[in-house]
Amino acid sequence: MARPALLQRRVSLLSLSLLCLVPLVQSNGNGLAQTPPMGWMAWERFRCDTDCKDDLENCISEKLFMDMADRLSEDGWRELGYEYVIIDDCWMSRIRDKNGTLQPDPDRFPSGIKRLADYVHNRGLKLGIYADMGRWTCMGFPGTTLDKIELDAQTFASWGVDYLKFDGCNSNALEQLLGYPLMSKALNATGRPMVYSCSWPVYIGSLPPEVNYTLLGDICHLWRNYYDIQDSWDSVQFIMDWFFNNQDYIQPAAGPGKWNDPDMLIIGNFGLSLEQSRTQMALWSIMASPLIMSNDLRSLDNAARAILQNKAAISINQDPLGIQGRRLFKEKTKIEVYWRPLVDAASALVFLSRRSDMPYHYHTSLEKLGFGKGNYEVYDVFEGSKPKPLNSTEQFTVSINPSGVVMWYLKPVKTESGHRTLL
Ligand code: GLA
Repeated sequence: MARPALLQRRVSLLSLSLLCLVPLVQSNGNGLAQTPPMGWMAWERFRCDTDCKDDLENCISEKLFMDMADRLSEDGWRELGYEYVIIDDCWMSRIRDKNGTLQPDPDRFPSGIKRLADYVHNRGLKLGIYADMGRWTCMGFPGTTLDKIELDAQTFASWGVDYLKFDGCNSNALEQLLGYPLMSKALNATGRPMVYSCSWPVYIGSLPPEVNYTLLGDICHLWRNYYDIQDSWDSVQFIMDWFFNNQDYIQPAAGPGKWNDPDMLIIGNFGLSLEQSRTQMALWSIMASPLIMSNDLRSLDNAARAILQNKAAISINQDPLGIQGRRLFKEKTKIEVYWRPLVDAASALVFLSRRSDMPYHYHTSLEKLGFGKGNYEVYDVFEGSKPKPLNSTEQFTVSINPSGVVMWYLKPVKTESGHRTLL
């Protein structure tokens, strides 16, 4: 019996040689996802509720996705960029049909996925679907083994799907190494433009050297790096801390057509306060993260709606340069400062308080934060105030609520003199 280390080396040699056989197609050379995808996804809020008898409103069924498409198109979301309606796990029948083709659960999706795609397209939206590189999906529905990749890509294209989330439960590292590039190729070969979201990094340790972010950027439009988000402030902090603690590895990997994905926005659910909801929106915008909500758009309260529909935050998230932002520093006082460079020498700044006592008055100046000399105009994203002038040397104070943020959009009054060049 080979010793584990030896076995591992053999597997990696084998995988390397097999990988040479897989033509690496640039999935993201197709011009999709030039800014982080925006939309709605079922998983975090509706999970694998298949009980349509007792819970018709909330079960995973075509009605749920039609309801959300109605809300996205009628309540102002689509115009702001929220365009993908994404089906997650548990949409399938427990078995493939007699030709081996995936099919939706006949009771919960009686009209079929093609009709659902038409419904979504007729409202000016796009449809996303979920599959799993492995024997079964994470919830035990039919998976996409290597031999089924082409067939499933063709099936999705024939239904009019616009986005695939390709999960990685129930497969091994070698299958994933082959399968993720193969699916990229198969999606391209259908001729239908489909955004390709890969969960690969989650299954192989999230960081280099196990994860090759250059390869991911070549084959996927976005990728889930880390654990699933849950409906709690703890979960949001756990995820954002991982992303910023590891920014040196993952931040350079992002750009137009290739995005790190810290998972869904949970704003509007049960776990976040108003302050924490603003914090998620602010930091997901700094991180150039996909803005994919998982909430109940039919019963969203106005405060959550205002945060998710904040135009300044969205335009920071969707900035065309596509540079992912970074944490600049953490103060001993538990104040943290985040920054993202934007088009036209503008910037987004976030001041976050990790305190739990009272609003904290943080004193600083743009110069201390590393900005070049000159005059700036500052706009407070959540206050929505009129832009205010600020000189780089001027001391200012921001009042940051516990677990909340102050988020600024700022730009130099004279472009040539004053922009930050930290990255
Ligand atoms: C994994 C993914 C989640 C969701 C579930 C579905 O946990 O990371 O986002 O898709 O599977 O089973």
